[in-house]
Amino acid sequence: MEKNIDWGALGFGYSKTDYRYVSNYKNGKWCSGEITTDDKVVISECACVLQYAQTCFEGLKAYRTKDNKVVCFRPDLNAKRMVESALRIEMPPFPEERFLDAVKQVVRANIDWVPPYRSGASLYIRPYMFGTNPVMGVKPADEYQFRIIVSPVGPYFKGGIKPITLRVPDFDRAAPLGTGHVKVGLNYAMSLHAIVDAHNQGYNENLYLDSKTRTKVEETGGANIIFVTKDNEVITPKSSTILSSITRRSLMYVAEHYLGLKATEREIHIEELKDFKESALCGTAAVLSPVGKIVDHGNEIIFPSGMENAGEITQKLYSTLTGIQKGEIEAPAGWIFEI
Ligand code: PLP
Ligand code: COI
Repeated sequence: MEKNIDWGALGFGYSKTDYRYVSNYKNGKWCSGEITTDDKVVISECACVLQYAQTCFEGLKAYRTKDNKVVCFRPDLNAKRMVESALRIEMPPFPEERFLDAVKQVVRANIDWVPPYRSGASLYIRPYMFGTNPVMGVKPADEYQFRIIVSPVGPYFKGGIKPITLRVPDFDRAAPLGTGHVKVGLNYAMSLHAIVDAHNQGYNENLYLDSKTRTKVEETGGANIIFVTKDNEVITPKSSTILSSITRRSLMYVAEHYLGLKATEREIHIEELKDFKESALCGTAAVLSPVGKIVDHGNEIIFPSGMENAGEITQKLYSTLTGIQKGEIEAPAGWIFEI
């Protein structure tokens, strides 16, 4: 029986659900894994994750479709990216096939928590892993836990589709040869001060620049960014120090193959922003959140689409992508994973 929740009132937060998936790594191998009701993690006070932040994670969603199926969107790409993240911080990767099976198990166990079709909410799925045994010298752990928790969520930015404001901060997110391209906890720890500061100053998010030249647009703390030019070309930053967003890759495909637009990944200089007509953040949590304004040290760029509504192309991209995710529009082969 579906849980008695006011789905439309949900924000993006953690609600404890009934079940989680856990597998432990010991003596060089992952154990078979299980679904459990135990929401507590008990590890050594000197665990590598606590001392040296050895942890990586993923984020994806389960949706109820028009014909009442429960599906995930391209989870194979999350499985693959998590392998890359794990390897970058010397963790044993969780096998991709097992990742998909674990997602299936944990969503099935929590099926009553999957919000109804058209409720505006979805079930956020958070796979993560961390080093559990004690280390004192700086080195990787020998033992790990892989875990998946789920939580019903609403929009990441309060106000849903209302355009947000970004500012260019005086902080960097990723070093040229650092960890910006993988989804490791340390990238988010170092963004916490910047996001609190942005919020204190009335901005919704930080738009980071490349840390080497501080001239090129990268991404925000939790999402990639797209722009629409005056010729209706959809462009997005090409950089080796941003996370390769699955939503962004999908949107670029949708722009080209569903909407017939030119879609280009290239370096984008901060001075170019004034020439664009629309912008939006994209990610699993953010979906496609319109950006109305970007403030770069007193220089305000207000996109012609304005602060009231999403721009025309942003709206089309949003409705096509979410239509594909919810089974209203035919998906490209392999994009929809049935639970
Ligand atoms: N960039 C960062 C820094 C993120 O944390 C996320 C969230 O996962 C994204 C981009 C969007 O990636 P995806 O579309 O795969 O969720
Ligand atoms: C996601 O979109 O899944 C993320 O992990 C972003 C996070 C900042 C909530």
